[in-house]
Amino acid sequence: MMKKQRVLLIGAGRMAQAVIAGLVKMNSTSLEQIIVTNNGNKQRLQSVTDNYHVVAANNWRDEIKQVDVIVLAMPPQAHDELLRELSSYVNGQLIITVAAGIGPSYMEERLPEGTPVAWIMPNTAAMIGESMSLYTVGKWVNSQHQLVLELVLKGIGQSQLCTEEEVHHLTAITGSAPAFLYYFSESLIDSAKKYGVEEDVAKQLVIQMIHGSSLMLKKEGNPTSLREQVTTPGGATAEGLNVMNNYHFLKMMEEAIDATNKKAMGK
Ligand SMILES: NC(=O)c1ccc[n+]([C@@H]2O[C@H](COP(=O)([O-])OP(=O)(O)OC[C@H]3O[C@@H](n4cnc5c(N)ncnc54)[C@H](OP(=O)(O)O)[C@@H]3O)[C@@H](O)[C@H]2O)c1
Repeated sequence: MMKKQRVLLIGAGRMAQAVIAGLVKMNSTSLEQIIVTNNGNKQRLQSVTDNYHVVAANNWRDEIKQVDVIVLAMPPQAHDELLRELSSYVNGQLIITVAAGIGPSYMEERLPEGTPVAWIMPNTAAMIGESMSLYTVGKWVNSQHQLVLELVLKGIGQSQLCTEEEVHHLTAITGSAPAFLYYFSESLIDSAKKYGVEEDVAKQLVIQMIHGSSLMLKKEGNPTSLREQVTTPGGATAEGLNVMNNYHFLKMMEEAIDATNKKAMGK
């Protein structure tokens, strides 16, 4: 049986709200209270507490002693300073970050010896409970902490336990690739518009095409065979793919992924 948990979120933006919505949806008997604080945007804090019926706090420093879990849902750049300050307040709380690039070793370096830490890398679909989240844990995480982590992760979608290095390498694939897919969608919509199709219609066509294709992919599980089913050798689709290959599509993706990961790692 898990002890009833008090969770403090530092940050009240999109990702914090996804985590809160997930926790509220889980309706777990193991959750005692959710407290939220941010960087001073009172209006945002008010709307979060109104929407999710959670408790607002003006200052995280006043809350630390009474919480079991701290979720950092703020920009990566704000972590260094906050972790260093947090380090004089914590006494065994599980600290979870959702920030790009901030792995357990980064947190352990800045926190007292023995502090349990975890890194969750969700994606934007966390907002509808459909994230593919990567996660990894630090040296001091025990089975009780794992249960808390599972609660947070299940609330926002599906998850995969990784090594810290794997999370760094997969950040582009699961975290940033939704933006790549949206960019791809924009390019299709623009192309349709160039043929004179109304923007609304073009959007509808592309959105349903992606929805149907992703359901097929989920059902079949094999993108190569699905691509081959659509591509008659020497046919129209093959011609389009040839152009993509002539522009080194795979190489371009590889470079985009490397660049994303390097940036997320602060390189
Ligand atoms: N959005 C995504 O798809 C996504 C995916 C994976 C990971 N993430 C990670 O999630 C984290 C938050 O992203 P987001 O999209 O939720 O950003 P966001 O909507 O811009 O919200 C950022 C939040 O952080 C707060 N904040 C900023 N600096 C702070 C500080 N020094 N101390 C306390 N709070 C501070 C802000 O406070 P105010 O409300 O006062 O402005 C705001 O509530 C980032 O680290 C990002 O890498 C996001």
